[in-house]
Amino acid sequence: MAVDFAVVPVAGRGTRLLPLTKSQPKEMLPVGRKPVVQYVVEELARCGIGRLLFVTGPGKTAIENHFDIDVELINNLRETGKEELLTELAFEREDLEYFYTRQRRQLGLGHAVLCAQPVVGSQSFVVALGDSIIGLHAQSEVVRTMIEKYEATRAVAVIAFEEVPPEDVIHYGIAQPRDGGHEVFELGDLIEKPGVNEAPSNLAVASRYVFSPAIFDYLKRTPPGKADEIQLTDAIRMLIRDGRKVLGVRLGADERRFDIGNFESYFLAFAEFALADPQYGAALKNHLKGLLQGAR
Ligand code: G1P
Repeated sequence: MAVDFAVVPVAGRGTRLLPLTKSQPKEMLPVGRKPVVQYVVEELARCGIGRLLFVTGPGKTAIENHFDIDVELINNLRETGKEELLTELAFEREDLEYFYTRQRRQLGLGHAVLCAQPVVGSQSFVVALGDSIIGLHAQSEVVRTMIEKYEATRAVAVIAFEEVPPEDVIHYGIAQPRDGGHEVFELGDLIEKPGVNEAPSNLAVASRYVFSPAIFDYLKRTPPGKADEIQLTDAIRMLIRDGRKVLGVRLGADERRFDIGNFESYFLAFAEFALADPQYGAALKNHLKGLLQGAR
């Protein structure tokens, strides 16, 4: 059966975005017109995902509310002659089934994925981090490609990678490709947030994974690693060391990853999405040009 289940971890507290994230989830921050997590869900739906499990935590109920069908709001828009706004709620009617579970203790990304096991069971599944958008307006099909590669090979995991500047390797899981690191490559190792001098490449894990349920057995055996957290990267490393096949797929040129984990990358993402807005992008561009030329 084709992989159609995705786990979306959204339990992280977003401390690097305080005070913005004090009482709202970072996954609900606006990027242009939509909250981050809506782009993630729309991307997954486009790639053939039909069922979605959010792994949530304290203060994340706004995410659940966002994907509910809000009949009261729909009726209100109809009754007050604002039918044209109904298209803004079309995402509510995506043909998707939503599930929610909670990570009851903040023990790391690997632990968050392990919390999904009772719901995922023995099926293969996608993991999509809820704080990263892939491609401008999330037009990426990389998850579909990854599922195809997963199904066509005997790989137990397929991971998306993007090239990052050498000084940024310290923020990511970094691949050691077994072969040349082509568009699709086999991994010889994966290292979580290495030092600049220890990094075997500049290919960084880019927030999307496809897994066989075998990953759960490895996660259960993964001791705390970087930051004293149970790291998904470390479980993948154990898979590779056991001789299991793990593939990397590079993001395409138009599939950049927008990370909403810190202010620098959040500002860049918001600016880029707002500038691409069909209605207000041009005016914003003029305004910014004026600001940059000191005219305002
Ligand atoms: C996590 C993973 C890391 C990956 C990154 C972006 O780190 O542990 O391997 O490169 O997401 O996909 P985090 O951003 O949660 O620190």
